[in-house]
Amino acid sequence: MRVTVLDHPLVAHKLTVLRDKNTTSPVFRLLVEELVTLLAYEATRGVRVEPVEIDTPVTRTTGVGLSKPRPLVVPILRAGLGMLEGMTRLIPTAEVGFLGMARNEDTLDIITYAERLPDDLTGRQVFVLDPMLATGGTLREAIKFLYRRGAEQITCVCLLAAPEGLAALEEELGDSEVNIVLAARDERLDENAYIVPGLGDAGDRLYGVVD
Ligand code: URA
Repeated sequence: MRVTVLDHPLVAHKLTVLRDKNTTSPVFRLLVEELVTLLAYEATRGVRVEPVEIDTPVTRTTGVGLSKPRPLVVPILRAGLGMLEGMTRLIPTAEVGFLGMARNEDTLDIITYAERLPDDLTGRQVFVLDPMLATGGTLREAIKFLYRRGAEQITCVCLLAAPEGLAALEEELGDSEVNIVLAARDERLDENAYIVPGLGDAGDRLYGVVD
């Protein structure tokens, strides 16, 4: 497992506004998209390409195009949906599948309540979108699910991660090819498994649910 934290002043600046509890949902959504596009640049560094012959106005030359099968982008519902636009802006020909997973806030168990993915993912490069890597439980279940379907290479794009969640994933998936690309590694989890300093409940902040 390889973890990359994007070290860039624009990422840090946008993340600071995102964390601010006074940032409204419309601004929050926009910032998530922008941040994901920046993360996607790093996350797609290993995307497979193949040689393509083209004619420029001057001469014939060889460039590259994305290989087939196309990469598959999988937002984890609900909060991962807010990351989809930012990802597909950079890689518009990617296929998109969906996984609905939720954490039972009492037991912290993960349940899969929806799935819309190709049956066979053999040889596919998959990009999983989930903003908050807290305990790591959701990502662990998503990654296992995708490997069972035949996915070859999995990259998770997250905004924030807690050290506890990263350690748990490392313990279970340490030997695998999984890449994790983050905007920041935060300090810790609190007693409710929220990331500290974090940004609160990403789904609620994206979609405007207020207590
Ligand atoms: N999910 C969230 O939305 N926020 C956290 O801090 C942890 C999990």
